[in-house]
Amino acid sequence: MRILVTGGAGYIGTHTCVELMAEGHQVVVVDHLGNSHPAALDRVREISGKDLVLILGDVRDREVLKHAFSLGIDAVIHFAGLKAVGESVAQPLMYYQNNLDSTLALCEAMEASGVRRMVFSSSATVYRTPAQMPVDEDAPLWSTCPYGWTKFMNEQILRDVYVSNPAWSIHLLRYFNPVGAHPSGRIGEDPNGIPNNLLPYITQVAVGRLPYLNVYGNDYPTPDGTGIRDYIHVVDLAKGHCRSVDQLLSSTGVEAFNLGTGRGCSVLQMVAAFESATGIKVPYHIRPRRPGDVAECYADPSRAESILDWRAEKSLEDMCRDAWRWQSANPAGYALPAAF
Ligand code: NAD
Ligand code: WQD
Repeated sequence: MRILVTGGAGYIGTHTCVELMAEGHQVVVVDHLGNSHPAALDRVREISGKDLVLILGDVRDREVLKHAFSLGIDAVIHFAGLKAVGESVAQPLMYYQNNLDSTLALCEAMEASGVRRMVFSSSATVYRTPAQMPVDEDAPLWSTCPYGWTKFMNEQILRDVYVSNPAWSIHLLRYFNPVGAHPSGRIGEDPNGIPNNLLPYITQVAVGRLPYLNVYGNDYPTPDGTGIRDYIHVVDLAKGHCRSVDQLLSSTGVEAFNLGTGRGCSVLQMVAAFESATGIKVPYHIRPRRPGDVAECYADPSRAESILDWRAEKSLEDMCRDAWRWQSANPAGYALPAAF
């Protein structure tokens, strides 16, 4: 099939394009490269040994979408969006305009083209916290930041689109904590500026870009006092999207699925796993809790395992080893080495 991948030049999008192309799909990417680098897609082509189409543009631009759908699209994976929690608090209108208008424009273009299969990038951030662990898809939804509200609202938009036309088939994939990189070390996470997230921060300490890790709180009600999350290898996550696309072909309706491992891992356990996987010591300082953080959050992935016939297979060691291979081979990410 020919799959339109919005935001396909980004972290999760590039890894998903690799897996889609490995399964024989043709890929069309729409991305304005606002948070990604053109080299990333060149490396996707290199890894896959196949070409893909990049339409450089904004998903909110109806002419861009008209061109994309003129190529003959069978299904859409909608990654395009802004994703930084803190930035969304500081600039809510930018988040609502980008994340909601892109989905509205995309749905209009899909309906006009008769393409009614969509995989939507949602997030565990839609779950009200604190939640009962492990979190299942029927847990209450709520958010404490504009970013999370854009995911919540997009899910509602898509449910209403289905009610208006039951021919639609939509999967809402709620990712927990994607980490790691393709085992080739050629594509990976390349955050702008100082990373907000734990593992890219650790790899930048390990590669010498940052002096030490700040551990945000060791007084949580957890075994070692540090926050617990469900880290999932980005390649496992990408494969989950391939299973989702397959399943969309044989169903209609709107279904939410947790994409996580079902296993919790604390901050200090992640540090230990990284040191074990790489042999590199990670210096850290204990700091006060980060506002908005919860003690623990990990998935019940059983619905995805049974309905999508998908299960996360990679270990924490794999996540750390692959993240390090990417970072050590690309100390400045996709930019030229002199850039940092
Ligand atoms: P990313 O920033 O690496 O990729 C997003 C891509 O979308 C970028 O290439 C960016 O240029 C593009 N983009 C954004 N707005 C666009 C627009 N209006 N038009 C065209 N292109 C646009 O982020 P990611 O980590 O790959 O995340 C992909 C999706 O998964 C996002 O929707 C994000 O909210 C969601 N998600 C990410 C995480 C995570 O921890 N990375 C967790 C849960 C959910
Ligand atoms: C994980 C743990 C921190 C950095 C975020 C977004 C969420 C989703 C995934 C988009 C926590 C601790 C972190 C550091 C630390 N993104 N930590 N020092 O907050 O679970 O989820 O990314 O949808 O919306 O909120 O991930 O990696 O930031 O934090 O101690 O320098 O690591 O306190 O316990 P989080 P994270």
